[in-house]
This record gives sequence, structure tokens and C-alpha cells, in this order.
Amino acid sequence: MCGIFAYSGPRNNAPLLVVEGLKCLEYRGYDSWGVAYQAKGDIKIYKKVGKIGDFKAKDHKFETSSLAIGHSRWATHGGVNRVNAHPHFSENKEIVLVHNGIFENYLDTKKFLEKKGHKFISKTDTEVIAHLIEEHAKTHSFEDSVKMAIKEIEGRYAIVVIKEDENKIIAARKGSPLIIGVGKNEFFIASDIPAFLKYTNKVIYLDDNQICTVENKKISFFDNIKEEEVKKRIIEIEWDIESAEKGEHPHFMIKEIIEQKDTLNRAINQDPKVIEQVAKEIKKAFGTYFIGCGTAGKVALVGEYLFAKISKKHINFAFGSEFPYHRQFLTNKTLLIAVSQSGETADTLEAIEIAKEKGVKIVSIVNVESSTMARISDIVIPLKAGPEKAVASTKATTSQLAILTLLAYACNGGILEGKHLLINAASQINDMINPRYEDHIMKLARKIKNVESMYIIGRGMNYPIALEAAIKLQEVSYIHAEGFAGGELKHGPIALISKDTPVIALVANDDCKNEIISNATEVKARGGYIIGVSPENHEVFDYWIRVPDAGNASPILNIIPIQILAYQLAVLRKNNPDMPRNLAKSVTVK
Ligand code: F6R
Repeated sequence: MCGIFAYSGPRNNAPLLVVEGLKCLEYRGYDSWGVAYQAKGDIKIYKKVGKIGDFKAKDHKFETSSLAIGHSRWATHGGVNRVNAHPHFSENKEIVLVHNGIFENYLDTKKFLEKKGHKFISKTDTEVIAHLIEEHAKTHSFEDSVKMAIKEIEGRYAIVVIKEDENKIIAARKGSPLIIGVGKNEFFIASDIPAFLKYTNKVIYLDDNQICTVENKKISFFDNIKEEEVKKRIIEIEWDIESAEKGEHPHFMIKEIIEQKDTLNRAINQDPKVIEQVAKEIKKAFGTYFIGCGTAGKVALVGEYLFAKISKKHINFAFGSEFPYHRQFLTNKTLLIAVSQSGETADTLEAIEIAKEKGVKIVSIVNVESSTMARISDIVIPLKAGPEKAVASTKATTSQLAILTLLAYACNGGILEGKHLLINAASQINDMINPRYEDHIMKLARKIKNVESMYIIGRGMNYPIALEAAIKLQEVSYIHAEGFAGGELKHGPIALISKDTPVIALVANDDCKNEIISNATEVKARGGYIIGVSPENHEVFDYWIRVPDAGNASPILNIIPIQILAYQLAVLRKNNPDMPRNLAKSVTVK
């Protein structure tokens, strides 16, 4: 997690520019933030606890500066307070650094440095890196000290460092994203492109183990493994600034829910050659895994059901964090298909690394095409959903579901049939995302906004959607929500049902329909309040949310009313749906 932004160039308001850049990255971490900048040969630091979005230019007067670095934090090591907020100084206060990632062996290094007399004021792993660089800088140049220090870091990192007497920024990455925006005689360094998109759409992707140095309007790159200079390509990207901003919407979450009218079509509109190629790989493979974490994991599990039903193929599912325990089964004939919005999720990346060591071919279904995941995969299927900023995934989810559905059909020789089904589903979204539909869900939201717990049940390919619905409700409404396979209720969870407990039943017009209705009836007999998400009303429902009948695309449409409900509950309960407590958008820690 955490957002990094840095600037070097002719503008003399670098600190404020960094603050504005960090505001665009706040979705990556929002418990505290800070900026360091050079002013008249000194390094000044300004740090604050809380959301950077709340900061106004009049709150603090920064001195004139044309070189600044900043960070928006999602705490990993050490609590949320000003001392632990980045940037962090070295002992002699000459070196200052921001960091995204985890320095896994930092305690050993800290002990080593303490023996040499270093004193640490924070509980962070980051401060140790600043001190380590200082230690090397006693006998080496600033650049060489950074190169030496990062060789000692085990784990993932993106760091940006400045030094008091040097008019340069040094940035390095391994496993956490850092992208350079190239303007006219100016450079931006950020964790994600939208942060500098209003200044430039020319980017350079820093790769793992590479270091970049910005000095005197020039940029250079160094490969720290091969120990040689590298040339990097400037790429022009097509994202427009509006897609990365809220526009007239009160929150990114609702904006992104609404965008599904368009994003689903974009996801369906894949290069058929790539889809056929992946289908061929699945047929050829001796064992295929779908992996993902959180919402992407639930989507991957839907994939297992889709393949069983549509292409009569067994695909193994594992959460990214659980995949390492399957490593004994992997051979060079295995195929791994990773599902991810950000392409930076540490657990998924680790699973890919383990698979690659065994010679496994990697396919990624990913939104951020510049991400680490996309770059280390053999084949990439892009979601094309545009930037997803709200922490709770919505539009990326339905795009991922659409691509897996398309793949399942392609594996059965029916890519056109799949496309047709999906285009039909996408065309129905207008009936679901409109004020009348939202008002209908709002009535329900008002009724249940103070409940303690709610449950969601589904069967077949809608069972993982029940799990996904629970995540959506939990993360933004903070209501206890759990998803179950409908048939599992009677084996224990039904004991949780009492009078008026809301239970959402996901009912599709498929071979599970009668069974899920009877599971809902069992709940109702125990006093439960049944909310049916279904193409047709049924007498067991106390509240009915209509969804179009989408056949095998029902998981895509069934999750949409739940996304709307989760958003509305968050707003009614005065939570910020874009920045739920304790969460961050990309989980770059294990
Ligand atoms: C929940 C959510 C998370 C992510 C998970 C994986 O709404 O967004 O559960 O799905 O952290 O992230 P990606 O898809 O970026 O790999």
C-alpha cells in the first residue's frame, strides 16, 4: 500500500504539487501523510496524521522549492502517528526517504545499525533504510549508498530518496510500483499514473531492481543486478484525466458502479486471438489454476464454476495467499491464470513467482496494464475498465467476470456464443443503473441500515457471488455480512437466523433455482427477512430486487444491486465508501 509522489523541475511550488499528487493516490493509504522538500539547501519536512484530502493550501505555507517527495501512508510497521508517518530522516538528518512495501529483514539491520550508534525514533522499517543509506554514505557517494542499501533489503519496496546537499532525486523499486512521468524539463515519480496525468501522459515504467536518478533536468537509469546503465523507453498512454476524477459524482464508488454501463462492453471487446490463445493453453495444460485475492479471488472461484458448466473442464481455484501450499502439484505443464485489478497484490505476485520457478506459464487478467503482474505474465488479458479508485472493487469485478465467461465459452469452441450472451447482459445494465432502480434499493437500505448482521446465500456460480456480496457490504457499510452456499446453511449457520435477520438470496434462472428458493424458505421459517435478487418475484421474498435474466452471465448482473446497496448503506451510515477504515486499494504486503 501507500502512495508515493515526487517532483523535480522548474516549478517552484514542488511541495504543494506533491500534496496535490498525493491526493490522487490517497486510495492507496490514508492514515497519515508527509512531504519533504529542499529549501535553500535545507530539507524541510511537513507531516500530518489523517487524510491528505482534508488538507487545504492555506493550512500550511510551504517555502519555495522545485524538488519535493511525499507519501500517503497505510500503516504496516508502527501505529498511526506523526512520528511513524513518512518521510523519514537518517540519523544525521541529511537523507530523507519515503517507502512503499515491506523491508522484511529490517529488525536485523536495525540491530546492526544500533550497535553502530544509530538511534531510531519511529517504529517503521522505512526509517531503517534511511539510516542504512547514511551508513554507506560515510564512505560512498549518495547514489552508490542507495545501490548498496537496497541490495540488503529483503522484501518488496519502492523508495524515493533525497539528500540535503544534492539537488537530485533517487528512486528504486522491487515489487512495488513506481512510474515516472516525463514533462518538459520536469519529472514526476509516482505509485500510479493518474497522480501526474494532468501534467503529462508520457511515462517510463521503472522495472524491478532498477534505480532512476533525476538531476539537472536529466534522468538516468541503472540496473542494480547487472550493475550497468540502462536505456528506458518513453511510452505515451491513452488514459484521459476525466476517467481518473470523480466529476459530478459524490464518490468514486458510485461513479465506478455507473461506469459499468460502458466498462462491461469494453471488457467483452477483447482481441479474439488472445482469448483463443488462452483457451488453447487451458486445453493443452496439465492442470490449470485460477488465483486472486479478495474480490478477485471470488471472481476466480466463479471461474471454476463457469468452466465446469460451460466448457466441462475442471480448473483449480486458490486464493493467492493459499496458492504456495499447492506448489508440490506444479510442473512445467501447469497453467496459472491470475485475476487482479491492480496487478500489484503481493499475495498474487508471490504465487506467480512460485509458479514461475516451476516453469508454469502465466496468464493475467488485469486492469492496470503497466502493473508488475502484467509485466511478468506470458499473456495478458486487459480489463480495459480505466482507473478504479474506490477501494471497493466494482467495475473491475464485472469486467473480470465477463472475461472469464468469454474464456469458458472459447474453451468450448463457442466464443461467439459467449460474446453474444455477454453483450446481451451488458445491454441490460441500463435497466439496473438508473435513479428508479437506485431508489428501490435505497428503500431497502433505509430499512436495514441499523442491523447488526446480514447474510447472503447463493448456489452454483452464484455461491462465490454471495461471498463477494459479503465483502462488498462488510468493507463499506461495516455491517457484519457473511456469504454462504445455500445448501450449507442447515449444517450450522442457520442457527444465526433470528427474527428479521436480513438474508439476501441470489436466485438465477438456472438449475439451482428450486434449491436456493427452498434454502430461502428454510430461513424464512426461522424468522429471516428474505431479500430476493432475481429475475422473477417469488412468494418467499419479503423484498424483491429485480435483475434481468442473463443466463450464464447471472453472476455479473447479480452483484450490481449489491454494489449499489453497499454504497447506499455506507452513505446512510456516514462512512466514506471510497476510503473504508483499515483498508487500502492495492495490498502490496503479504
Ligand atoms: C474488495 C477489493 C479487494 C481486492 C483485493 C485484490 O472490494 O477490492 O478484495 O479485490 O485486494 O486486489 P487486486 O484485484 O488489485 O489484486
